[in-house]
Amino acid sequence: MELEMRGKELTEYTYDLSQRIILVTQIRRVILVTASVLLVGFAVYWLIKDTPMQGFVMEWLNLIIRWAHVVVGIMWIGASFYFIFLENNLNRTDGVRDELAGNLWAIHGGGFYFLEKYKVAPKTLPKTLHWFKYEAYFTWISGFTLLTIVYYMDAKSFLIDPQIADLSVSTAIAIGVGTMIVGWLVYDGMCKSPLVKKPMLFAVIGVLLLAGVSYFLSTVFSSRAAYIHVGALIGTIMAWNVYFVIIPSQKALVKAAVLGKPLDPSLGKKAGERSLHNNYFTLPVIFIMISNHFPSTYGHEFNWIILMVLTLASAGIKHFWNLLERGERSRFILPVSIVALISLALVTSPAFEKAGDEFGEVSFQQVNEIVISRCIQCHSATPTDDQWNLAPNNVMFDTPQQIQAQAERIMVRSVRTQTMPLGNKTNMTQEERDLIRAWILQGAKVD
Ligand code: HEC
Repeated sequence: MELEMRGKELTEYTYDLSQRIILVTQIRRVILVTASVLLVGFAVYWLIKDTPMQGFVMEWLNLIIRWAHVVVGIMWIGASFYFIFLENNLNRTDGVRDELAGNLWAIHGGGFYFLEKYKVAPKTLPKTLHWFKYEAYFTWISGFTLLTIVYYMDAKSFLIDPQIADLSVSTAIAIGVGTMIVGWLVYDGMCKSPLVKKPMLFAVIGVLLLAGVSYFLSTVFSSRAAYIHVGALIGTIMAWNVYFVIIPSQKALVKAAVLGKPLDPSLGKKAGERSLHNNYFTLPVIFIMISNHFPSTYGHEFNWIILMVLTLASAGIKHFWNLLERGERSRFILPVSIVALISLALVTSPAFEKAGDEFGEVSFQQVNEIVISRCIQCHSATPTDDQWNLAPNNVMFDTPQQIQAQAERIMVRSVRTQTMPLGNKTNMTQEERDLIRAWILQGAKVD
């Protein structure tokens, strides 16, 4: 932050004024950049809409924004893990000066680093003070943009599943965005209520509410979109914690230091609570962000329960990890979390499925007919679908060999998790799924 106005003559009024000027300038810049990007985006979109370029351009937009989202997300979570590591490993006793909370030596990239943490603030503020906030903001902005591109601009494919709930596009988007806003308000309200003084109760109620949200979303959205919206809600809480609570309290800290005034200790405490919540959210939210690669989780009939087990177990692992860094060891948290994950995998595994002989010998011809009527609209070198004019993920079922080679994935997507055909756009029946299943269990032979 630029602290140009300093010195004895600085009053609270002039300080606030200078801060406001800085803030307005920053906001103006952000608005300008965002508006130009949106303008260019919309112009391009109108130019290519309904042309063969549409799918292609959307894929590149998806690529670039996803890439940026992952990069800024790594910077955010990386910095936050690093500061938790510092906090857990500070030397707080050995020759530490009175004004310090602790210090720490480290070696990295061929150099030695020495770092000191102050109890409150240094007597004079340094000229350059590094803040860590844009990582969080850009992670949220890029994440929301990605959500818009993938799930909202293409709601019929990815957001809505008519077999789950036959929503209109605008209703579905309103539910998605509404979940994030209402979810934040409820969470923020809980943090401001007396509940926050009882961490155990807070956690239990928080988890129950999250389970409720997961269940609700699994009854309105496609299974994949339900997962990603739970992630979007958690990510929103994390980023807005930074924007609405953590950064303002740091600004108050800096202001008190500049003006030489005592600091309201409740501010630091509030920021600390939010940071702690963010810390436990990290592992679950990262799983959800990569969950669309794992249809056996989101595509399962009890997908919301699976999500809650994964959330609790990964938060448990994070808890163990925090304790470990502080030199404490808990005997049961890690084993319980790992056993929970393994049991989850076992319970949802196909090991106990029935044999697949209910139809007798299924011929490749029968399977090929199903694939032709339900899949190759999209999965072909020459797709006929109105939307997918390139084979999705380059998966094509034009030849017997292609179908055979993909048998395992076909089993996962169209039988076990029923996440294909996309949104069941081609109206595949349960009997067809069972036939494909039997054929694969019989060895996926092409005669
Ligand atoms: C309306 C278009 C559409 C139809 C019809 C469709 N798919 Fe897909 N398929 C997609 C899209 C889009 C993806 C990529 C996104 C995803 O993985 O969810 C995909 C991905 C897949 C994948 C995953 C590829 C990978 O990288 O793991 C498999 C397997 C698959 N489809 C099988 C099928 C089968 C089998 C059918 C027919 C029963 C089918 N699809 C029908 C659009 C379609």
